[in-house]
Amino acid sequence: MPLQPNLRSQSLTESVTLAIAGKAKKLKADGVDVVSLSAGEPDFGTIESVAQAGIEAIRGGQTRYTAAAGTPELRAAGAAWFQSEYGLDYTAAQVMATAGIKPALHMALMAIVEPGDAVLLPAPYWVSYPSLIEIAGGRSIDVESVPDQAFIHTGEQILAAARQHGAKGVMLNYPNNPTGAVPSPAQMKELVAAAVEADLWIISDEIYATMTYDGAEFVSPASLAPERTLVVNGGSKSHSLTGWRIGFLAGPEEIVAAAAKLQSQAIGNPCSVSQAAGLVAAADDHRAEVTRRVAAFDERRQYLVPALNEIDGVAAQMPLGAFYVMADVRQLCERLGIDDVELCSRLLDQARLALVPGQPFAAPGFVRLSYAASMDDLKEAVARLAKFAETIG
Ligand SMILES: Cc1ncc(COP(=O)(O)O)c(C=O)c1O
Repeated sequence: MPLQPNLRSQSLTESVTLAIAGKAKKLKADGVDVVSLSAGEPDFGTIESVAQAGIEAIRGGQTRYTAAAGTPELRAAGAAWFQSEYGLDYTAAQVMATAGIKPALHMALMAIVEPGDAVLLPAPYWVSYPSLIEIAGGRSIDVESVPDQAFIHTGEQILAAARQHGAKGVMLNYPNNPTGAVPSPAQMKELVAAAVEADLWIISDEIYATMTYDGAEFVSPASLAPERTLVVNGGSKSHSLTGWRIGFLAGPEEIVAAAAKLQSQAIGNPCSVSQAAGLVAAADDHRAEVTRRVAAFDERRQYLVPALNEIDGVAAQMPLGAFYVMADVRQLCERLGIDDVELCSRLLDQARLALVPGQPFAAPGFVRLSYAASMDDLKEAVARLAKFAETIG
């Protein structure tokens, strides 16, 4: 009998976004003229001084094991960065370095979820969350998407779901991937009050926190309920550090210590070279460059959303953060008698346009477009989508 992977690994799904981006890349490599708005990473390079710090770390021999939770310098710089950027008060012991946000989420969930615990996922949510909860032994519970509320749930909706399922935690992600939603400070207060009332852990994925538009103000739930909030954040998106694999987990000291113990056994320290780069990212002031990049995304957002709304059968709300638009394509799907997954498949095959279907984000009838792409690509994508929509009338 051939060896089989265990049931846990068989039950996990592959990331749909990575699968589509991979298919688009392969078509491009084969010489097919594909436009892809499927990527979840900035089209800018790593901030130069940060990259340089990595190069110097290699040259200077910073290539050995470090403490598993990160160097003391990086943890201290992380605590200072949380304070200066977001007004969050952490000691160095409350901050650990991780190999990016995914491992930070993994360690956080592994440190708090008991077998069978229910963790709420307000939909739409980032595709990896259900698998991360499942790996930690929990059960993910979808809280139905609320497009009519600009994709932001009320406290009451969270409280009702928490009571119905006896939930132990809730994962929040604002600015949101895939919708770009950013709650107002009052809405965030309401969400946190619901979590307090239902005695939930809050796992807050704040990786897009520097990317807000139209004056939207992001408030971290950790500023309202630090005793029950685990924050994950870093420079993956703001400093284009996606491939470096470096990030932070911050929260109550006992939980961070437990997560660090797990990390020490399962992973070891995050890459020493990336920690050196991360130290410069956290300790030096890169606000001017980060702001310049956000302004570039804003320009693209302001082009893309009205252009999408010009297309018959497509409707998009103006996102207030991140670099995604979640477009409502229910009319297009209805006319064709297909769902969003099949629509994306046809768009790729027939229009040579790669978009991500809403279903894996728990938003059927929607598609996600990333505007971390050049203006030329955005214009071409809109032209292809419009032509596709026209042909089906
Ligand atoms: C909401 C969200 N969290 C986490 C990540 C992954 O971040 P990292 O590359 O630091 O693991 C992504 C990447 O697309 C994301 O969109």
